[in-house]
Amino acid sequence: MTDRMDYFITQYELEQGALEIQYIEEYFGEFPRKKTAAEIVDRLRGRPHLILMATATLPHDPTTVVPVSFKVAHEIRDDEQDPKLADLVTHLRDAVQFEGRRILYSWIGGTRRDWRGQGHFRALSEQQEFWAIEQGFDEIVVKTKNRFYEMRGTLDHLRFEVIRYERHQTDNAESKVYLSKRLMPELLTRHRGRYTVTQATL
Ligand SMILES: CC(C)(COP(=O)(O)OP(=O)(O)OC[C@H]1O[C@@H](n2cnc3c(N)ncnc32)[C@H](O)[C@@H]1OP(=O)(O)O)[C@@H](O)C(=O)NCCC(=O)NCCS
Repeated sequence: MTDRMDYFITQYELEQGALEIQYIEEYFGEFPRKKTAAEIVDRLRGRPHLILMATATLPHDPTTVVPVSFKVAHEIRDDEQDPKLADLVTHLRDAVQFEGRRILYSWIGGTRRDWRGQGHFRALSEQQEFWAIEQGFDEIVVKTKNRFYEMRGTLDHLRFEVIRYERHQTDNAESKVYLSKRLMPELLTRHRGRYTVTQATL
């Protein structure tokens, strides 16, 4: 993996960010259930969250900038009322200490196929960690499935640890894997990338 590239990251406000995510998800043909902007706004409104997008220039046209990778995270708490999040917390409770600690849930993310393997997702992950530590979070948790091999490999490289495995009754490829990374300030010294981070303005 190259660590000599410069990465361009934009942090979005909620409404604009939700539209940007909806737009980039159109390029992920492999996942039929895409999130709409409305779903994203519903989930993130009222809770601390971070919407990050990496952009790059087209190789054959350096004047055109395109979104290539994204990552969305939000806080989860012990007392979630939303049924999906309450269920998530129930599944995490044995593996994550919520009391007196702030937990960031890395909800959705990905890199467009043609742009994979260039460090964009690592760049977003490192920026997410920087933000999370600055905001006082203690741990980042993420959920994936056995069959999402690229994501599992990537989370491995990003030093996430498996904290829970939930076997699917009939199809082990569908089994859920929960992972986490504890946030220590010294983590930032191990970050590799060179980033330019911009706040999106309307
Ligand atoms: C997983 C995904 C986000 C990785 O994005 P990416 O921009 O290619 O990742 P990066 O280039 O930043 O790589 C980050 C690290 O993961 C490693 N990595 C990336 N793809 C990998 C793969 N397929 N297998 C193993 N490791 C991989 C890289 O080597 C790198 O490690 P390093 O920095 O230590 O060298 C991308 O492949 C993707 O969008 N896949 C589909 C998304 C998905 O599976 N979603 C399911 C829902 S969880």
